[in-house]
Amino acid sequence: MRENMDAVIAQLASPVGSVAESATGAVSRNFLKNCMTTVTPSEWISLKAVATTLTILVPLILVVTFNEDARSVVLFCWACFIKPLHAKSSHSADSQQKNLETFYKTQAKIYDKTREVLLKGRFDALQLAQSHLPNDREGLIWIDIGGGTGLNIEKMSQICSLTETFQAIYLVDLSPSLCGVARERAERLGWTNVHIMCADACDFEIPQHESADLITFSYSLSMMPPYHAVIDHAYELLNEQHGVVCSVDFGVQSSAHATGRVNNIGGLVNYHIPWIYRTFWRIWFECDKVYLDPSRREYLEYRFGTLKSINLRNKTLGNIPYYIWLGVNKDEDHMLSHRFKVLAAKSPYLAPVNETSNNAHYPANKELEVAATNTRKGLPFPSLFYQREIWRAYYDELSPYYEQFKNQYIYAFTWEDPREDAKILNLTKDDTVLAITSACDNILAYAALPTPPKRIHGVDLNPFQGHLAELKLAASRCLSYEEIWALFGEGKHPDFKQLLLCKLAPHLSSNAFQYWMNEGPKTFDPSGYGLYDTGFSRWALRLARYIFKAFGLTGKVEELCKARTIREQQQIWNKYIRPALFNPIVGKLLVGNPIFLWKALGVPSNQAEMMGSSTMQYIIDTMDPLLSRSLISTDNYFYYLTLNGRYAKDNCPVYLRKKNHEIFASKTDSPLDRIRLHTDTLNNVLSRLAKKSLTVAVIMDHMDWFDPNGVDAMHEISSLHNALEINGRVLLRSAAKQPWYIKNFEEMGFSCEPAAIRHSGTSIDRVNMYASTWVCRKTADENARRRMSSLDLSK
Ligand SMILES: C[S@@+](CC[C@H](N)C(=O)[O-])C[C@H]1O[C@@H](n2cnc3c(N)ncnc32)[C@H](O)[C@@H]1O
Repeated sequence: MRENMDAVIAQLASPVGSVAESATGAVSRNFLKNCMTTVTPSEWISLKAVATTLTILVPLILVVTFNEDARSVVLFCWACFIKPLHAKSSHSADSQQKNLETFYKTQAKIYDKTREVLLKGRFDALQLAQSHLPNDREGLIWIDIGGGTGLNIEKMSQICSLTETFQAIYLVDLSPSLCGVARERAERLGWTNVHIMCADACDFEIPQHESADLITFSYSLSMMPPYHAVIDHAYELLNEQHGVVCSVDFGVQSSAHATGRVNNIGGLVNYHIPWIYRTFWRIWFECDKVYLDPSRREYLEYRFGTLKSINLRNKTLGNIPYYIWLGVNKDEDHMLSHRFKVLAAKSPYLAPVNETSNNAHYPANKELEVAATNTRKGLPFPSLFYQREIWRAYYDELSPYYEQFKNQYIYAFTWEDPREDAKILNLTKDDTVLAITSACDNILAYAALPTPPKRIHGVDLNPFQGHLAELKLAASRCLSYEEIWALFGEGKHPDFKQLLLCKLAPHLSSNAFQYWMNEGPKTFDPSGYGLYDTGFSRWALRLARYIFKAFGLTGKVEELCKARTIREQQQIWNKYIRPALFNPIVGKLLVGNPIFLWKALGVPSNQAEMMGSSTMQYIIDTMDPLLSRSLISTDNYFYYLTLNGRYAKDNCPVYLRKKNHEIFASKTDSPLDRIRLHTDTLNNVLSRLAKKSLTVAVIMDHMDWFDPNGVDAMHEISSLHNALEINGRVLLRSAAKQPWYIKNFEEMGFSCEPAAIRHSGTSIDRVNMYASTWVCRKTADENARRRMSSLDLSK
């Protein structure tokens, strides 16, 4: 054994010796050797342990003594992880305060510093809550329940002026130590309207004549065992019509918890927390008497109407799940009555007295049906009912129809020319228009007409098109022109999240808000390719980019986008770009390839067949005439965007024009209020509209998608016929010069005329993607006349 020890010592000593054969080295070796001869192996091991402990502890003690941050962390760990293991907690009636003090007393002073990383979302929640406060009311009352050290109030002062916005702010907290810190803060920052109340959240009082316009809970509800009483008390204190309640807190839930109440919780984005996380975080936080069970949030969602909700993860600390939730009085909120008034206008009970029952056909209204169902079950109304804007019509967000879209819109921009629509349709203020929403550009173009239609119904089955449409409407409503331009002209914004929370959110539905909170920051990220590199339509733009790069044409494309004469434009096109785009390899691999046509251009096989025998020729017929029609640099925003990835201020969709921004943002009678967005099939929406309530339907190339041998086209034509008044018109575009379904329209009682037919070498509009544009006018009412097509397109 002793020899072994000697060997170890020799090994230990040898590096020293090999570095320098100095006298010091020899002395240390001898010293070590002497020690070892007198120390037994077990003593040696304990010596080593003591030395190691000292090596760790001494620097730690030094750091903790002289470094404030380190001291805070150690204290935090002690208070949160070690002390609870031996601290006795009491469960008697008034013991909560004692328990809280045991937990907070030692850490009150370091509370703010140590919670920065743990309690995420505080600032986002305050911004969101503040943006939803009524902006036409002064002297608001704010109660921060379980407000702790008053950090929320300080953060709020970075968002708005405390004195100008609030008449009084009450911070209510049960912990005297934390209230002490809050008082010091109030004094230090000179707050004059802040009242610190050391009281229980269940039964504190504010002056009798006051009701709260804002009630906040930040990470406090999860620490309140009698949370039912706390929430009930908050409900009583909240201003019935204008009050907003906000909670940001930890919380875990599974999608099963939403069963039967999906439409009242404001969306399911990131809602489900996997079992392992649900279990682990609940157990972990329970040690500190923080309860992550879903019941607190669920009781909020039951007691109030959900205005906004969002599910998040603390990425810095192990993905701890937390949520931000905003609610209002579920029965009395002022937006609720506004929505019901709008709905009631469509109700049979408010129909004109002289309307004969034969003519007045009022199909079931989905919104009223769901409102009745929720009321019967004692649930709040759907979240959509509490929103400031009434654009979005109620839809069943769990419908399996929506699964096909995989969380994505198809079009970030609309690929039809509204200028031609306006010329053909001559819309007036007496029109009621239904159009496919797509990216909403054309819906907004109709709304910007000098005499906008009295109602514009946008229909799209894809909910994410609806979310994009809402974003464009919200931006048009509340942003400055520069902000709108950044979002939709450039497709990028340096701080989208901030814009969303502070300005856009109050004008969005909760579902659209959740979508954009999740997708927006990366979509509009200035270091990415921007908005127009999203959706399926991004493939068209990417493809253009790749091809031009591969053929070394990027510079020529830039020249084309700057060309100031048609001649110059044609020259660049014919000499450089056309040969690259229309070469046989590109033709074979892409343009003639059905997968590419569907994926990149959104052309389904039924429509591809209508394009004729050569898809390549079809594309040539599309592109060539455009170069002589108008300048891409100034009067063709469709292709300018495809080539450039962004718009120019003098070459952009109608809603991005400065003068239209002023019209849309107008406080009174904004044309935006004429828009309704439906998230359903055309057929379903048509069948729910009152009979003969439409004067115009713009259905784009939608009919091309149907199977000529199926019955769907006939069903849709029949629904159009029902919903249109006599002389009502359908505007449609087709990849065929004479679409097969025109005869079906005629059989149903429409008279159909082509508004434009594209012949080789000519263009019919600035997109020129379709071979024909048709107007089908409803001539007969019941008993549709059956007659064959009388059109001769060979002329
Ligand atoms: C995690 S802290 C959050 C503090 C602060 N809102 C924040 O965001 O930093 C929870 C707070 O709830 C308070 N609290 C717990 N139960 C309470 C009750 N019944 N009444 C009032 N406050 C209570 C605690 O004293 C503590 O300040």
